[in-house]
Amino acid sequence: MAGEEITVAPSILSADFGALAEAAAGVARVTDWLHVDVMDGHFVPNLTIGPPVVASLRRHSTAFFDCHLMMTNPGDYLEAFSKAGADLATVHVEIGGTAELIAEMRGLGLHVGLALNPDTPFEAAAPYLAELDLLLVMTVFPGFGGQSFMEEVVPKVARARRALDEARSPARLEVDGGIDRVTAARTAVAGARVLVAGSAVFGSDDPAAEVVAIRRAAEAALAGAPPAAP
Ligand code: DX5
Ligand code: ZN
Repeated sequence: MAGEEITVAPSILSADFGALAEAAAGVARVTDWLHVDVMDGHFVPNLTIGPPVVASLRRHSTAFFDCHLMMTNPGDYLEAFSKAGADLATVHVEIGGTAELIAEMRGLGLHVGLALNPDTPFEAAAPYLAELDLLLVMTVFPGFGGQSFMEEVVPKVARARRALDEARSPARLEVDGGIDRVTAARTAVAGARVLVAGSAVFGSDDPAAEVVAIRRAAEAALAGAPPAAP
C-alpha cells in the first residue's frame, strides 16, 4: 500500500562472498531484509549462489531473506530454497508458467514475488497482482551489480503503484538496480516501497549508515523535502 513504510533491502551480491555472515550482521541493526540474488548462468549471464549458501547464511542471520531468482527453471529449486530458509522467492514473469510457480511457492509457505525486466511491460504482471506479496520492477537488466539506474523505467513503477492501489493490494512494490540515495528518492516518489541496494550499500565504508541514508532520502522525498545530497 502506498502509505506503507520504506524498506531498504541490501543486496549481498555486492558483499564479500567470503564473509557473507559478517556482511549480514553489519546491516542487521538497520534493516530486517536481505536481498539474495540467485543467478543461473542461463536466464542471466552470471552465476552466483544457490540453496546451500542460503542455508549457511540462514544459520547466521534472522533477516527476512528476499530471494530474487534470476533463473530459467526456478520451479526445480523452490523446495530447496524454502528448506534452506528463504522467506520470499521472486520469479521472473518472462520465463512463463507464472500461475503454476505462484501456486508452488504458496504451497511451500514462501512469500510470493514476481519480477519484471526493464523491457517487460507492466501488463505482463497484471493478471497476478491479487496473488502477490511483492512486485519487483527491475531498474537495470538483471545479471550484475553496479549498473546504472534506468530512468526510463520510472513510469512503470508509477503505473504499478497505481494498479496496486486500485486493487487495494497489500503487495510490496520493489525496485532493484542502480539504487542509491538519489534514485531511492526518485523511485519512492514514483511508488516503490522496498528499495534493493547492492553496490551503494556494500561499496560504502559504512554499509549500515548507507542503508539509513538511503531510507532517509526516500522518506524525505515522500515527505516533500529535497533529497539529501549524495
Ligand atoms: C541485478 C541484481 C541486483 C543487484 C543490484 O541483477 O538483481 O539485486 O545486486 O546491485 P546494484 O544496487 O549495485 O545495482
Ligand atoms: Zn536482485
